[in-house]
Amino acid sequence: MSNELTNSTQNNERSTRPRRIRTVSGLMSLVIAGGFTLLLSRTHSEALPPSATPAEVTFAHDIAPLLYANCVSCHHDGGGGPFPLMTYKDAAKHADLVAQVTASHQMPPWKAEANYGTFMNERHLSEEQIALFAKWNEAGKPAGDLAAAPAPPNFDHDAEWALGKPDLVVQLPETFTVPADGRDIYRCFVIPLNVTEDHFVSAVEYRPSNRSVVHHAILYLDQAGQARQLEKQFHTDHPEDKQAGYSRFGGPGFLPGGGLGGWAPGAMPALLPPDVARTLPKGSDLIIQTHFHPTGKPETERSTVGIYFAKQAPQHKLLPLILGNRSINIKPGDKNYVVTSDWTLPAPITLIGITPHAHLVCKSMDVWATLPSTADGEQKVPLIRIADWDFNWQGTYRYAAPMHLPAGATLHMQYIYDNSADNERNPNTPPKRVRMGEQTTDEMAYCFLEGFADRPLDTLSLKLSMMSRLRKNATPTPAPAAN
Ligand code: HEC
Repeated sequence: MSNELTNSTQNNERSTRPRRIRTVSGLMSLVIAGGFTLLLSRTHSEALPPSATPAEVTFAHDIAPLLYANCVSCHHDGGGGPFPLMTYKDAAKHADLVAQVTASHQMPPWKAEANYGTFMNERHLSEEQIALFAKWNEAGKPAGDLAAAPAPPNFDHDAEWALGKPDLVVQLPETFTVPADGRDIYRCFVIPLNVTEDHFVSAVEYRPSNRSVVHHAILYLDQAGQARQLEKQFHTDHPEDKQAGYSRFGGPGFLPGGGLGGWAPGAMPALLPPDVARTLPKGSDLIIQTHFHPTGKPETERSTVGIYFAKQAPQHKLLPLILGNRSINIKPGDKNYVVTSDWTLPAPITLIGITPHAHLVCKSMDVWATLPSTADGEQKVPLIRIADWDFNWQGTYRYAAPMHLPAGATLHMQYIYDNSADNERNPNTPPKRVRMGEQTTDEMAYCFLEGFADRPLDTLSLKLSMMSRLRKNATPTPAPAAN
């Protein structure tokens, strides 16, 4: 299916603007893996330098600082963006497109609506900054005094770890070869960690050796040898497949004993808050489930994972939470199919991050909490809103400050799907009926939340309540009128 879709392989300079839509699966288990690590890199908007000659916008004076602060973290050689924007030449070459994508808010990529939840590392350009890109392009891309331009940031450190030397570094057992074309591949690699005592993990950096072919990766833990068993069985059943690991669509094929997050393009490793950590039990194997998308030529990949241990036992263990609805059945042509879900918390929690998830025909997402009614009535807490969901830009958004929610607060989500031919991301032409499922062309409605029980004793009751709520969400909720 995905071969019919157009292609936007990263690191390939493109003059046309087709877009690859990639498949995903196994995200039910994401809740166990603990969500993606920060998709959103650490660029940030900076105040503009005072303009000495307001009449002319030049690369040296105006454009270079904007690019260096907001764009080049991805747009450098070997970065996640499709071409570098490091030099005057680079910027001049793409000036038209840069003006367009900044005006349309497509770049820098940041899907969450401003002022609806406050997140770390938000990427927004001000209207004045956007206007500078347009003015510069219209003025014929003047270079200005290049000798006085700021020095471009140095990305040589790309070869090093973003958070310093990890406590534990592991690699895929061997190089994996992805054929030039064919279906997407979901491969689980089993890596013994040889940890002889329990650890707490405060960050993980996943480094694909070949970004062009890796769509995403999810990191699971297994203390029971289940994945080793599955790998053995797979090679018995498929003697022709001599490569490491086992192929598995959907989840990893066993109930994981924990997780270490995941990776998607643009992801940057981030430390958890100092009093929170994930658990890495002794004797764990690391299972990396990698989703490969063939690029049109044979590719090889051998990713590396760096694990950072917490310096001391954390006060809170990360508790992956999930809000969702498995009842999705959208008739072809339906432009406004609404899926909702809610869950009332039996105990107080603190949220630190949020990862909304759906596939291709989803258009918009709204997630919020209502606090238990008080004398002043119900209070709404915005959690995230995405007006124009794009499957290629999913990831975890971390809150700028932890969000405390009391017992009795209700989490809500409302996702809207457009299964008409007007939806340019619809994978089916003409549109077909779309149901809940793990294929690209199926849909999902989940919101993964990173948080913890304020009182560790509540962890179990939170998990049980969450699971029972998820099971009940198998019947459609009535759709509100279109607006
Ligand atoms: C987090 C990484 C990231 C950052 C930051 C980023 N980009 Fe991009 N950019 C990408 C990726 C990946 C693509 C290709 C996929 C796409 O078009 O969505 C892209 C595509 C583009 C394109 C081509 C669009 C097209 O439709 O062909 C332009 C132009 C661009 N970026 C300019 C910018 C500018 C200007 C900035 C800063 C204001 C910026 N980007 C910041 C990752 C990034």
